[in-house]
Order: sequence, then structure tokens, then C-alpha cells
Amino acid sequence: FVDFPREGIVFRDICPILKDPAALSAVIDLFEEHVRRNHQHVDLIAGLDARGFLFGPLLAQRLGVGFVQVRKKGKLPGPTASVAYELEYGKAEAEIQKDAVAPGQKVLIIDDLLATGGTLYAACELLKTLQAEILECVVIIELKELRGADRLQPHAVFSLLQF
Ligand code: PRP
Ligand code: ADE
Repeated sequence: FVDFPREGIVFRDICPILKDPAALSAVIDLFEEHVRRNHQHVDLIAGLDARGFLFGPLLAQRLGVGFVQVRKKGKLPGPTASVAYELEYGKAEAEIQKDAVAPGQKVLIIDDLLATGGTLYAACELLKTLQAEILECVVIIELKELRGADRLQPHAVFSLLQF
């Protein structure tokens, strides 16, 4: 979609993947294969609000691990850590519950799409404040020209589709 949600943005929509059960299971298959091949042990999957929530729990179930939420501000009860960030078309604030991850746990971060990397960078910062070990960031779509992967270094990014 061109010029959504703002002029100049080409919006890459993941709705057709969700609508097609074969496409959705192919996406989860590819993530599962990648994770099993590259990581000996995963403790938790952390998913980003909101579209990371659509894929993260499916992958976590396949891997037999738990899922935790990195949410937009003001949604999670109890003690939280928060961080402000900018993304391709706006600003937001992300939060995680302080007991979501124990120090040293190996966490894989998942979202639908990497654009500028602002959102995943914020998630990495939150997980670092909880002393998690960040294994990698995985996304379906990476918008290469925005160089989000560079911003996330030294954390690795795995993407299924690149534009
Ligand atoms: C979108 C997308 C990623 C983020 C990527 O989320 O799902 O989380 O933008 O952009 P960035 O790499 O420039 O940070 P959005 O904040 O629009 O929220 P939504 O998932 O609630 O639609
Ligand atoms: N999030 C940030 N940039 C995006 C884009 N171009 N398409 C879909 N989601 C996005």
C-alpha cells in the first residue's frame, strides 16, 4: 500500500499471510528451521506489540518455549521497564514487565517487519535492562534500504523476505 499510514511510506502488509493457513505455517516452518539450526538453546521468545504477537506465540509453541510481550506503554500491569523510540512513521514507548525475563535467559526477539530498526532497538534495550541474553532478532520482512540491521548491531537479524 502506497502512502499509508503517511505520504511517502510504502506499507508492507502481512494480512495476506495470516489469511492463508499454508502461508502462515510456511512462515513458522522457516523460522523454526532457522532457530533449530542456529541456536542450541532458547529460553523465551519476546514478541513486539502488535504484529509480533501474531507470529511469536506460534513459533514459541513449535519450539516448546514461553512467549513474553513487549507492549506499547500503559498496557502491562505490575512493575515495568520502559523506553521511548522512533519508528519509520512515528514515535512510541515500549514496556516490558520486570519479571518477564530472568537475568541470563536466552531470548529471541520477533516482529513482523524491520524498517528503521527503532522498534527492535527499543526491545533490545528493554531486554538488556533485564539482563537477558539476546540471541537474535527475527522478522518476516526487512526493508533493506532503511538499514535497520546496521542499527541493531551487534545483534544479528534474520529475515525471510527483503525489499
Ligand atoms: C510496525 C512494525 C514494526 C515497526 C517497524 O509497528 O510492526 O514493529 O513498525 O518499524 P521500525 O523498524 O522503523 O521501528 P507499529 O509501531 O506500526 O505498530 P503495530 O504493530 O501496532 O501496527
Ligand atoms: N512498520 C514500519 N514501516 C513499515 C512499512 N513500510 N510497512 C509495514 N509496517 C511498517
